[in-house]
Amino acid sequence: MKAIHITKSGGPEVLQLQETPKPTPEKNQVLIKVKAAGVNRSDVITRKNTATYGKDSPQTLIPGLEVSGVIEEIGAEVKNKKVGDKVCALIADGGYAEYVAVESSHCLPIPKGISLEDAAAIPETVFTVWFNVFMLGKLQPVEKLLIHGGTSGIGTMGLQMAKAWDCETYTTAGSEEKTNFLKKMGVDKVINYTTEAFEEVWKGEKIDVILDMVGGDYTQKNLEILNKKGRLVYINGMKSMEVNLNLRTIMAKNLTLTGSFLKPQTVEVKTQIAQEAEKNIWPMFDSKEIHPIIYKKFPLAEAADAHRLMESSEHIGKILLIM
Ligand SMILES: NC(=O)c1ccc[n+]([C@@H]2O[C@H](COP(=O)([O-])OP(=O)(O)OC[C@H]3O[C@@H](n4cnc5c(N)ncnc54)[C@H](OP(=O)(O)O)[C@@H]3O)[C@@H](O)[C@H]2O)c1
Repeated sequence: MKAIHITKSGGPEVLQLQETPKPTPEKNQVLIKVKAAGVNRSDVITRKNTATYGKDSPQTLIPGLEVSGVIEEIGAEVKNKKVGDKVCALIADGGYAEYVAVESSHCLPIPKGISLEDAAAIPETVFTVWFNVFMLGKLQPVEKLLIHGGTSGIGTMGLQMAKAWDCETYTTAGSEEKTNFLKKMGVDKVINYTTEAFEEVWKGEKIDVILDMVGGDYTQKNLEILNKKGRLVYINGMKSMEVNLNLRTIMAKNLTLTGSFLKPQTVEVKTQIAQEAEKNIWPMFDSKEIHPIIYKKFPLAEAADAHRLMESSEHIGKILLIM
């Protein structure tokens, strides 16, 4: 089969289309003939430094954390899926390829009204938001949620999910084009962080949950605008992972500071996220309250251009690779 390999750490040019053996599904896995694969910021981070992939980083690796496609083969113990099923799935790597083997319990049906191709934009965002905002952050209906980086893949999906959960939504973005888009999408309060300081504008708002991927000096500012018993959840620190914070703010308001990486979670945790997402979030797709926002699709061979676009941060929503 054909797959994009990260041939060494470096710029987008290290992504190369190469022939590689088709994977064989293990007993609890299915083999998916991939229709489309989502591109994620994490793929860019791995490409720049393959050491971030983990200790057992191979010489070359196939990036890609999510796909959609059709099941072509099932492992000996798979009971809940069959050959021919159309699915979207969260994977640990290997999505930029014609075939991928994945745990059957990490595959979900294509939501009603979403094309097989577009469904590749769903798993990574929904799994990450469900795990961090809902499971760790314990967001409740009518609470206030702020997601920084509103036009990221994560932001565009998470803000819609929170709105459909009956929450008040807040977000920040880096241009007028982006803030206009987010307002049209139905976000309640939107700030262009290049012209306004969110910690000043939202000083009295008492926000219940914040999902942050920026880190650095945002951390103390986030703590300042949280409500009593507020929850601050980290999924990255793009500005800086090293932060200064005042512990007094946490103690004075009984705040919770948490975060996670989705990729290294166990099969069992990812299965739990999949089951809870299917129960709580899939009906929101069916009722058309939420949908994936797709900015651009590239043929698989043009993965390097897809990474260049992601690194430009011009995009609004998701970038896909089409087989
Ligand atoms: N921990 C986890 O398990 C997990 C899982 C999924 C994603 N993530 C993280 O969540 C974030 C969103 O992921 P994604 O794939 O949806 O990303 P994405 O679509 O590439 O969006 C990232 C956006 O963040 C904004 N941004 C703010 N500060 C930035 C900075 N210092 N450098 C670059 N961009 C900055 C940019 O928009 P503006 O123009 O508005 O600044 C950019 O468009 C990423 O940081 C990713 O690593 C973590």
